[in-house]
Amino acid sequence: YGKLNYIVQKWSNISAFCPDPSDMLIATYPKAGTTWTQEIVDLLLHNGDEEACKRASTSDRFPFLEIQYPPPIPSGLDLLKNMKPPRVIKTHLPIQLVPKGFWENKCKVIYVARNAKDNLVSYYHFDRMNQAQPQPGPWEEYIQKFMRGKVAWGSWYDHVKDYWKEREKRNILYLFFEDLKKVAWVPHAFRSGVSNRIVQLTSFKNMRDNPMANYTFIPKIMFDHSISPFMRRGEVGDWTNHFTPAQSQMFDEDYARQMADVDIPFCTSI
Ligand code: A3P
Repeated sequence: YGKLNYIVQKWSNISAFCPDPSDMLIATYPKAGTTWTQEIVDLLLHNGDEEACKRASTSDRFPFLEIQYPPPIPSGLDLLKNMKPPRVIKTHLPIQLVPKGFWENKCKVIYVARNAKDNLVSYYHFDRMNQAQPQPGPWEEYIQKFMRGKVAWGSWYDHVKDYWKEREKRNILYLFFEDLKKVAWVPHAFRSGVSNRIVQLTSFKNMRDNPMANYTFIPKIMFDHSISPFMRRGEVGDWTNHFTPAQSQMFDEDYARQMADVDIPFCTSI
């Protein structure tokens, strides 16, 4: 799977990475709301200071632990070497592959999950625009690939379940994309100055127009936003515009089988 080959080649270095206890980890399955959460966390750490959070691009502010880009773009480990703790590190690794130093040092971990159908739709469009990953192929076939975990970073089902099962033991803050959307509904009057500001600064529209957060900083040869923008829709329930009723039923039946051992309160509409 393209990028993942590089990850395999560097695996011993990645898995040996030892964070500082002050480092924080944001872990997600791809397209679950990583960039959004990164921006919220950065603004919280900077008390809502918009300019401070525009000091550099998302990729430069948050080292992506396992990523290996073609030179001269620095790898996650290169960035980490040159950054002093406390750092906010991004990973898409399944929980079993997260370097053990994160657990030994009791780093704070935030996991963000998004309902399977919207996650799949977002990944499909991302794979179309991301020239560093295999092309998704026809929509119908992509659904099958996603269900079988034959996409970069593997099975969505195992990913969300394995973090869920460990969340209490390992002190993982397990968040949902759909809940982040709901935060914007809390009336202004109930939000403090700073949190009100952060909600506004991290609205879909604001982030779409923020060149330090909208991934236009990645060369077009890798991310071609003219095919599908990184900040695509940012909605809950966009899957209804993609799945036919028959595809939805087939997906739900398989979902019930794959998720039978857990009860994670996902919602597919709000
Ligand atoms: P869509 O493709 O459904 O629009 P990640 O950062 O994990 O790659 O996730 C990307 C998804 O999060 C994209 O979903 C993107 O539009 C959405 N997103 C990013 N910032 C957002 C925001 N501020 N509000 C809502 N959705 C956001």
